Amino acid sequence: MEKWYEAIRKRVSVRKYSDSVTRDELLDLKEAAQYLSTDDVRIVVGKKDGIFDAIIGKTISGTDTFAAIISRGNESDYMVGSVGEAFVLECTAMGYGTCWLGLSYNKALAKSFIRLNEGEKLRCMISIGRYEMQPSHKRTRKTIYNLTGLDDEAFKKLPDWQKCAIECGRLAPSARNAQPWEFDVMTDSMQIACVSKNFGYGGIDCGIAMLHIEIGAAHCGVYGDWQVEDRLPLFTVDYNLEA
Ligand SMILES: Cc1cc2nc3c(=O)[nH]c(=O)nc-3n(C[C@H](O)[C@H](O)[C@H](O)COP(=O)(O)O)c2cc1C
Repeated sequence: MEKWYEAIRKRVSVRKYSDSVTRDELLDLKEAAQYLSTDDVRIVVGKKDGIFDAIIGKTISGTDTFAAIISRGNESDYMVGSVGEAFVLECTAMGYGTCWLGLSYNKALAKSFIRLNEGEKLRCMISIGRYEMQPSHKRTRKTIYNLTGLDDEAFKKLPDWQKCAIECGRLAPSARNAQPWEFDVMTDSMQIACVSKNFGYGGIDCGIAMLHIEIGAAHCGVYGDWQVEDRLPLFTVDYNLEA
């Protein structure tokens, strides 16, 4: 997970690419996609001209390489977000730029090209490519206080794993940068509450933040499991401090 921790700290959305990926690089990406796919969420990597020509205009340029994030049944949106973000962080660690896309792609073309199995849904796309210049936009994020209700003094007193988990969760990407979550910090656990549907992307956004929190804690040697409570948009993670 350590390479994903580094990836969290350096990743920003890349929308202008200098190049797509070569055929050999595509094979590496397909291997990573296969490795990270689960029974619930399938990642399909491919190249297609015009894939980023969206109805709302063309936001992505310079690449035709994509990863489609496909849900396979009734799994939660959180799982979609976590699996997709694991792939984004792996791409970042491999040196590629990426951008999560809910809208900025040609959905009809993607659906006809990918061939979905029965019950599957195309949830999001991720653009992938080489880039020369780090995008100049700042990663504007909610303050720690807005996220947790903790002031500077209280935050400083937290154990390292919780500080690290919060900082990583804070850097999670979300649709429209809405950051539709709040973090609740307890003695040996943390909860994340989804506070907005964010035009249908709220659950996916929260799944992304959940993975970031887990990676931040793991960086400090603390591991745990997420539990979803009664289908409410509220999650609890318990970390075994002896782990
Ligand atoms: C689920 C999801 C959907 C997104 N959809 C789009 C999109 O359609 N077009 C786009 O340009 N960016 C999209 N983004 C990227 C966000 O705008 C971006 O992650 C956010 O502004 C934070 O910036 P950063 O990724 O550089 O940290 C999406 C992000 C997520 C997580």
